Amino acid sequence: MANHVNRVALIGTGFVGSSYAFALLNQGVTEELVLIDLNKEKSEGDAMDLNHGLAFAPNPTKIWYGSYKDCESADIVVLCAGANQKPGETRLDLVAKNLKIFKSIVSDVMNSGFNGIFIVATNPVDILSYAVWKYSGLPQSRVIGSGTILDTARFRYLLGEHFNVDTRNVHAYIIGEHGDTELPVWSHADIGGIPILESLNDEKEKLEEIFVNVRDAAYHIINRKGATYYGIAMGLVRLTKAILNNENSILTVSCYLDGEYGVNDVYIGVPAIVNRDGIKKVIELRLNEEEKSKFEHSVSVLQETMSPFFK
Ligand code: LAC
Repeated sequence: MANHVNRVALIGTGFVGSSYAFALLNQGVTEELVLIDLNKEKSEGDAMDLNHGLAFAPNPTKIWYGSYKDCESADIVVLCAGANQKPGETRLDLVAKNLKIFKSIVSDVMNSGFNGIFIVATNPVDILSYAVWKYSGLPQSRVIGSGTILDTARFRYLLGEHFNVDTRNVHAYIIGEHGDTELPVWSHADIGGIPILESLNDEKEKLEEIFVNVRDAAYHIINRKGATYYGIAMGLVRLTKAILNNENSILTVSCYLDGEYGVNDVYIGVPAIVNRDGIKKVIELRLNEEEKSKFEHSVSVLQETMSPFFK
């Protein structure tokens, strides 16, 4: 678009939101970043602090503490507001309180005249992505949850460590709920084109252990430092770049399924092509029987959890 200025509006400048803003600035992804948060003092402080780093950033980014009216001309609104998991809490435990928060946030954003793409990060991200789609009235393709983008990155990192290869040369997906029912797609996991399952020397247990560490990573981090934020923030920046740069990249994000995988009316983590228009296409992997049944279980857990809220 001729002299279009990319604008990202970030709602919620807590641990995840402020880490996302910091990563976005350092990667020089957008020309404008507006911070919106109930805590005006903290958010204004973040804007000042980030602006003071601009001299070290790869590209100029205009950053300010703003209001919902600044969402009108935003290309992307990133939702990081809400409660996060405390030690011992699952992501699904947050559903009631965060749905309530989202109802008012989404209405305020839409009242600004926003007509871009929502990226949802707050947990439980799959159910909240569904809620943002319902509350906003935007097309499904323009509401994208971070989904299993971080889980897939964790999976690739741990596999890369195990096989001693660069994590960027590990092709393996985690799909399903961003949570306890997520699953590894071993049947399509390869390193440099060699299927992982075909190159095993009795490492099956080790690989299962790797998956369990991926699935439970957030608990291990929360127990140590109280929250997770750097990994998810970088995943959100990756997704933001895929949209703003019209990349047509394949990322495992939370998408609305409308028959894909034999599933309807749910947001869940699957590989999808992402570009300037949002979700261009859901990639339908041929899952083996075990993966199919785990995926169906993940879908049913999400649909059961959200059904009381979406009669
Ligand atoms: C995690 C949070 C983002 O998995 O759910 O770290």
